[in-house]
Amino acid sequence: MNAGDVQSVGVIGCGIMGSGIVEVVAKSGADVAFVEIDEEHVATGRKAVEKSLARAVEKGKLSEEDRDGIVGRITGTTNIDDVAGADLVIEAVTENLDTKLSIFRRLDEITGPEVVLASNTSSLPLVQMATATKRPDRVVGMHFFNPPPVMKLLELVRAITTSDETVEFARAYGTDRLGKTTVLAKDRAGFIVNYLLTTYLNAAVRMYEEGFATREDIDTAIKLGLGHPMGPLELLDLIGLDTMLSVGDVLYNEFKAPEFNAPPLARRMVQAAHLGRKTGRGFYDYT
Ligand code: CAA
Repeated sequence: MNAGDVQSVGVIGCGIMGSGIVEVVAKSGADVAFVEIDEEHVATGRKAVEKSLARAVEKGKLSEEDRDGIVGRITGTTNIDDVAGADLVIEAVTENLDTKLSIFRRLDEITGPEVVLASNTSSLPLVQMATATKRPDRVVGMHFFNPPPVMKLLELVRAITTSDETVEFARAYGTDRLGKTTVLAKDRAGFIVNYLLTTYLNAAVRMYEEGFATREDIDTAIKLGLGHPMGPLELLDLIGLDTMLSVGDVLYNEFKAPEFNAPPLARRMVQAAHLGRKTGRGFYDYT
């Protein structure tokens, strides 16, 4: 199938990343069915999409009429079999390999054999998801950035089993249909962005932990000194400390370089559920 022919897309998981991906795909004009574990999560996912769309309307980025059209193209379900007819499926569940593998096995059984199965994994080995299916040539990484409706990058990841046709399909879909700019990375832990980002964010936490500077000064220094939209501690709160910790652990396991190993403070914060914006508290208080 050509990227231009994709009419219906399945998205597995509607959390921070999944809900953003659902929004981006529905904005492109396709019908989207997203899958969540129970009705409560379906409702939360839908609310996240609606909140983001309301923000886009408020900011003058979207008309109310277009917003209604987008919402009308989105369906939430708890039954993964509802994506059986999709032209493309994007998996965006939490960074747990076993969960992802069982999802890929099931998707392989229910979707057409030609359908491309993509993962939004930010660090896990894509080849394991590919080889959990009977179509390892049609599995590709499509790594979006948080928040997906705003961030222009789509990092494509090629496993050693991924075919040229699948990479080209994902590139064309990302650029022509979703309006993203794509880069291509090999299937190595962290790909391009998270390989570099993890070292930087861990260094910022160490700096804060060691009392080098206050959290506000660390963030202000990076925003005004380097022109980043957010400082590292604010960014950690946006991404979620649990997500960054699991990404760092995957990188550490693969490369054994100490800079990927999360500082004790980050681990303690995760144990205390101070995960950032999603729990209302991280380096800053959002309550
Ligand atoms: N839909 C469409 N556009 C939206 C929007 C929405 N829901 N929400 C905001 N925007 C637009 C705004 O209109 C605005 O556009 P203009 O500049 O053209 O006016 C722009 O996005 C910024 O929005 P705001 O000024 O209202 O919001 P902000 O200043 O609070 O910015 C932010 C929010 C976009 C998150 C910004 O702070 C930012 O870019 N931060 C860095 C985010 C980042 O680094 N993400 C990557 C994380 S790493 C990752 O994701 C990888 C991983 O695997 C861990």
